[in-house]
Amino acid sequence: MAKSRVLVVGGTGYIGRRLVKASLAEGHPTYILRRPEIGLDIDKLQILMEFKRQGARLIEGSFSDHRSLVEAVKQVDVVICAMSGVHFRSHNLLLQLKLVDAIKEAGNIKRFLPSEFGLDPAQMEHALEPGRVTFDEKMIVRKAIEEAKIPHTYVSANCFGGYFVGNLSQMETLLPPKHKVLIYGDGNVKAVFMDEDDIATYTIKSIDDPRTLNKTLYLRPPENILSQRELIEKWEKLSGNTLEKITISKQDFLAQMKGASCNKNIMNRATIVQLKCKKVNYSEKQEIS
Ligand SMILES: NC(=O)c1ccc[n+]([C@@H]2O[C@H](COP(=O)([O-])OP(=O)(O)OC[C@H]3O[C@@H](n4cnc5c(N)ncnc54)[C@H](OP(=O)(O)O)[C@@H]3O)[C@@H](O)[C@H]2O)c1
Repeated sequence: MAKSRVLVVGGTGYIGRRLVKASLAEGHPTYILRRPEIGLDIDKLQILMEFKRQGARLIEGSFSDHRSLVEAVKQVDVVICAMSGVHFRSHNLLLQLKLVDAIKEAGNIKRFLPSEFGLDPAQMEHALEPGRVTFDEKMIVRKAIEEAKIPHTYVSANCFGGYFVGNLSQMETLLPPKHKVLIYGDGNVKAVFMDEDDIATYTIKSIDDPRTLNKTLYLRPPENILSQRELIEKWEKLSGNTLEKITISKQDFLAQMKGASCNKNIMNRATIVQLKCKKVNYSEKQEIS
């Protein structure tokens, strides 16, 4: 069977470039949207040229030019969007509504995967302001996709390793603490931590799988499901360094968040999940683990 042609939108981004790599590795004819707006961004250009060298095809297209998006979409079978949605980088999730319009008009796409990849926004109705905007916007995009009857898959990978593992889920750093570590609540609530390359690989493997059509794909390999205490314990064993544990109650944690900016809150979300979602009720109907 011929491999699906895949267009990655946002292909120079953090998760986007891993999606391109995984798509090429799985042997899919892989296309990347090359936006003229990248202008003089030499880093993005070099990433694109390197992917081209590896066999990807670059398609010029802009979110300011509807026709260019329609023409780009018409050249492929599957569209994966990795639009930015992390506040301290950039946050443009609603631009995807333009992509939804283009996919609807093109009418040929057999699967669309919007920019999700994190916590399942359908289960984040309890998320706090101002960080919850990410989940709200992802739900707006979902609604548009479903109203347009576009075949889709939503990928939920929970916590990216780069953001939540290396720092032992501490805020405002990506590196492990040297002496003291903050533990949220009792530190025993489980969370799912995923390697970003694995997220990309599973995502690409889902695109032709009929079981994932119009469903949410939850990535949660059993070995990746850890409590914060288990995560810390692993690091202590690896580093040979025992950290001083400081527990922070739910009340104190929430009090600290009052008035915090989005940038600060972004790292709080997983911990909010740890504190508040003692048990996650995944919908049986939608679940593919
Ligand atoms: N749960 C977690 O731990 C976690 C962590 C990080 C991210 N995420 C999720 O992963 C997804 C992708 O995030 P990311 O960090 O990979 O994104 P990112 O690297 O910040 O940005 C991805 C891409 O978005 C595109 N973009 C940004 N601004 C744009 C604009 N104004 N017009 C058109 N395109 C624009 C760019 O595409 P070009 O390549 O075309 O320039 C950029 O490379 C988001 O949904 C985010 O919420 C989850």
